[in-house]
Amino acid sequence: VGVVGAGYVGLVTAACLAELGHSVRCLEIDPERLSRLRGGILPIHEAGLDTLVRVNTQAGRLAFTESYLEAIGGSDIAFIAVPTPPAVNGEADTSHVFSALRAINEHAPQHLIVVIKSTVPVGTGDLAQEIADETGKAVQVVSNPEFLRQGTAVSDFMDPDRIVVGALSQTAAQQVARLYAALEAPVVIASCCSVELAKYTANALLAARISFMNEISSICEVSEADIVDVARIVGLDKRIGSAFLNAGLGWGGSCFPKDVLALKTYASAVGRHPRILQAVYDVNFAQRQKAADKLISAASRSHDPTVAILGLAFKPDTDDIRGSPALDVARLLVARGIRVQVHDPIAMGNSMAVEPDLLYMPDATLAATGADALLLATEWEEYLHLDWSAIRLVMRRSVIVDGRHALDGQRLRDIGFEYYSFGRAGDGKAREGHPISLFDPSDHETDFRGAAVR
Ligand code: UGA
Repeated sequence: VGVVGAGYVGLVTAACLAELGHSVRCLEIDPERLSRLRGGILPIHEAGLDTLVRVNTQAGRLAFTESYLEAIGGSDIAFIAVPTPPAVNGEADTSHVFSALRAINEHAPQHLIVVIKSTVPVGTGDLAQEIADETGKAVQVVSNPEFLRQGTAVSDFMDPDRIVVGALSQTAAQQVARLYAALEAPVVIASCCSVELAKYTANALLAARISFMNEISSICEVSEADIVDVARIVGLDKRIGSAFLNAGLGWGGSCFPKDVLALKTYASAVGRHPRILQAVYDVNFAQRQKAADKLISAASRSHDPTVAILGLAFKPDTDDIRGSPALDVARLLVARGIRVQVHDPIAMGNSMAVEPDLLYMPDATLAATGADALLLATEWEEYLHLDWSAIRLVMRRSVIVDGRHALDGQRLRDIGFEYYSFGRAGDGKAREGHPISLFDPSDHETDFRGAAVR
């Protein structure tokens, strides 16, 4: 197997396919990244990936190369795993996919199967097949999107909900599906177009759930309902499920923002009016402004307004700051002349490269020192166990905006914080509502009323 691209998707795909026993050569054209990869230094932080790369490189199943000939020449299957960033008009820019395809075609042996792993607009696979047909080498194009989450990409790969393969040729589709034979997962084979649209639909639907809950959270704010309780109640409905219902700062990352935008742009381009997709997008980014407004109003009372932001990565367990909600809020604050002191366990280096004007602090307490307000933007485990009493003492004023519903609001209020999150009953004041809990009616030892109110 040849894998073109040693970014997040390419590297995980290459290492995991090697782990499944395949012989994999992964292509990286950047000489510096290549030599680091060869030395076992990965360009991304992803749980378990470094071990997988080391073990499989040592076992001779995984190698890195800058040569298309070496990566593709002796392969049965070639994966394209290159970025498809948003173009100026919002569409996915597929130029890297097609330049990889042209280079692969040049070195392709007869009957090579080219697998598009990158997230690509509907119709890309069919167009790629037309281009591949021109080689006269009977190259078959197959679409095989990934559903990996950053932070858990290796376990998502090894334990997938489904393997999805799109192709004109059943034989080619089955050959790609066979790569994953060791994994216990249903395999769906469909047309390239269906598979391509399904990938966008999955991301847009997950993003929509979050935006929907953010909209409900704003209704909670004026109705004394609590969004965390609402999410828990609706999530127990098996038809709905509890994942991706956490309201807050909204979704970020390298995928949801670009994929929702690309799908919305595509829908408009083909003459549809994507009203829901537009709302999913708008509601999400309004959450950043809402958090910023709260922080600005808390800090503006100071002569030297200062805000602390904990967490810069777009979510925990990754150092990726693309589409980071924290950085969106930070930019809104900086634009208002606010001093922004930040901390993140592992994403500070990446953040410094794009936002050098923020004040990077070596730990959470130093970030909070002298701040008028603090935003918890990424729910890193270590932030959940901070000594909040000590933090309260080093802050100048004591407003906390919990952008992830990750902290114990009542405890923070008891310490003396003015705690605010999104859509929680009693925000900013002592909570008088009745927190829900799961009550087991068969447990006769439990006092019913006591259990019902926790
Ligand atoms: C997402 C999808 O979950 C993967 O299935 C997909 O393969 C991947 O995009 C991709 O297209 O490559 P990822 O971007 O790693 O994965 O992140 P998610 O775990 O989906 O989280 C996305 C954002 O939603 C994060 O900012 C997270 O904080 C936010 N989120 C998630 C919420 O605000 N609320 C929730 O309840 C869940």
